[in-house]
Amino acid sequence: MNYRHAFHAGNHGDVLKHAVLARTLELLKAKDKPFAVLDAHAGIGRYDLQSVQANKTGEWQGGIAKMDDDFSPEVEAILSPYRQVLATLNPDGEGRFYPGSPEIVVRLMRKDDRLVANELHPIDVEELRAVYATQKNVSVTQLDFIQAVKVQLPFRERRGLVLIDPPFEVLDETLRTAKAIEFGYRRMANAVFMIWYPVTTEEFAAQFVATLQALNIPNMLQAELRVKYAFAQGGLSGSGLVIINPPFGLEKDLQALLPALAGRLGLGEWGRGTVQWLTPLK
Ligand SMILES: C[S@@+](CC[C@H](N)C(=O)[O-])C[C@H]1O[C@@H](n2cnc3c(N)ncnc32)[C@H](O)[C@@H]1O
Repeated sequence: MNYRHAFHAGNHGDVLKHAVLARTLELLKAKDKPFAVLDAHAGIGRYDLQSVQANKTGEWQGGIAKMDDDFSPEVEAILSPYRQVLATLNPDGEGRFYPGSPEIVVRLMRKDDRLVANELHPIDVEELRAVYATQKNVSVTQLDFIQAVKVQLPFRERRGLVLIDPPFEVLDETLRTAKAIEFGYRRMANAVFMIWYPVTTEEFAAQFVATLQALNIPNMLQAELRVKYAFAQGGLSGSGLVIINPPFGLEKDLQALLPALAGRLGLGEWGRGTVQWLTPLK
């Protein structure tokens, strides 16, 4: 396990994932009934963009650093839960700290909602435990993500979200992700499943999406953000989310958000933000 998210925090992939995660949580809050979130690859929760790791790659310069100026009022309304988390984490307005996925959940969930943050890396999981030690409705586990899905689903609340955000370090990550979704869906068909994938090569992204599509699970939505040309030898040229059971209103929001993010984060003519259903609605 070599991957450490501290090198990548706040990049364009994070902006997409976290803005959509925050909006989705906000839509889940439209109903009073409490929900649970399983963050199956949680990372360490909070990131310092002035750290040696963040500045070694400087990836955040192509992501969150470009988000300062306002978008249209429609897009700002969609981004507002994400903006709210960034603002509360940076009360001095400097934008030094960046929220990982568990931090976004912790800052947006209500007192009866809960988070299970799962992380396999032995150092990162300890950091995560330390950060959330005093939070009553957060539990931290250290399992392989497939096991975490098996153990946690179905949620006792009967509603909630599972975030699958693998590091894509191992060759069979696509098949393991599909396996986790298959298990998870069998256990809790009404959960929202949100899966992040990188666009490294065209072939990789197409194959990843086709593998999930072949699971034949209805209500599967794809949102993909490209920021630059995808070279055959790889490199992160964009990323996408596959969302099963998106809450009502999310598709419409993404139809407005994705082109706006592509316009802002895309390099020259390469910015592209697309949203489509991968499987029929049920
Ligand atoms: C892309 S990062 C997660 C970032 C986090 N979701 C966020 O948005 O802030 C992927 C994380 O998965 C962890 N990881 C790697 N293999 C794993 C596995 N088999 N099961 C669970 N976590 C794993 C890595 O240590 C890494 O922290």
